[in-house]
Amino acid sequence: MSSLDFSTKIGSKRFSNPIFTASGCASSGQELAQFFDLSEIGAVVTKSIMSKPRLGRPTPRMAETPSGMLNSIGLQGPGIDVFLEKDIPWLVANNAKVIVSIAGETVDEYGVLARRLRAVSGISAVEVNISCPNVENRGQVFSCHPDTATAVIETVRRNIGGELPIIAKLSPDVTDIVHIAESVIKAGVDGLALINTLLGMVIDINTMKPKLGGKTGGLSGPAIRPVAVRAIYQVHQAFPNTPIVGMGGVANGRDAFELILAGASAVSVGTATFGNPTALIKIRAELEQLLLERDFRDFRDAIGFAHRGAK
Ligand code: SIN
Repeated sequence: MSSLDFSTKIGSKRFSNPIFTASGCASSGQELAQFFDLSEIGAVVTKSIMSKPRLGRPTPRMAETPSGMLNSIGLQGPGIDVFLEKDIPWLVANNAKVIVSIAGETVDEYGVLARRLRAVSGISAVEVNISCPNVENRGQVFSCHPDTATAVIETVRRNIGGELPIIAKLSPDVTDIVHIAESVIKAGVDGLALINTLLGMVIDINTMKPKLGGKTGGLSGPAIRPVAVRAIYQVHQAFPNTPIVGMGGVANGRDAFELILAGASAVSVGTATFGNPTALIKIRAELEQLLLERDFRDFRDAIGFAHRGAK
């Protein structure tokens, strides 16, 4: 039996362990539930949901890259009505801890979504995705500017009511991510999700055209892990009391541990699940082993350990 307290907290909510899904890589968890019990992971972070059903971007929507992949999904989804009717009851029935990710085209749309979620039971937190790179208008990447990031978070805070923690998902495609983090913390978030994918492009040298139907896409996978580690480290250094859900190229326990040492209170796993649907379970076990080998008895003592003694 493990003698490690593996639990973690985001705002007022406690999670049994720090390994979460990454939004968008397993819809609302149904695909992964074929392989393991969803209660074995800390939380399922759902695919970002919008107010209306959405078809997403033209195909092809995925392209391989060295140590990573590009996606250009374009926030395809069933819309909040179907999501609340089908996905939330299914997740609750399957004993999953649920973090609902929301995305909007306008500040008002985020407010509408927050209002729809405020009375829903079975939700542990809301991830406010203000950083999807696959939108027509770069002005809709709200996290690229402190004023628009603030406007969205203030609106969600006002509309969500109660005690539901809000987690802002930020883009690494900015000059100073600490500045953006500061603006959303002032606007009332309880946590941050770092990092969303980086905007990229692949050109097929046979067709001599961009490979993705949407031309650009979000880069994920091991190639972006050092960017995630850097962003988490910088933000944790500036705001050590704000929990961070870290993500970006985590494929094994040592990768998860690296993000935790940088300052993550939880780690989301996305791209790795495409190659191995049980990656989350493997990563959880490997991380637990690494912590015990280093004499950690409380997971939370490892959070931000790389900062200890740092000037
Ligand atoms: C997408 O649906 O295009 C991806 C969402 C995201 O990266 O935030």
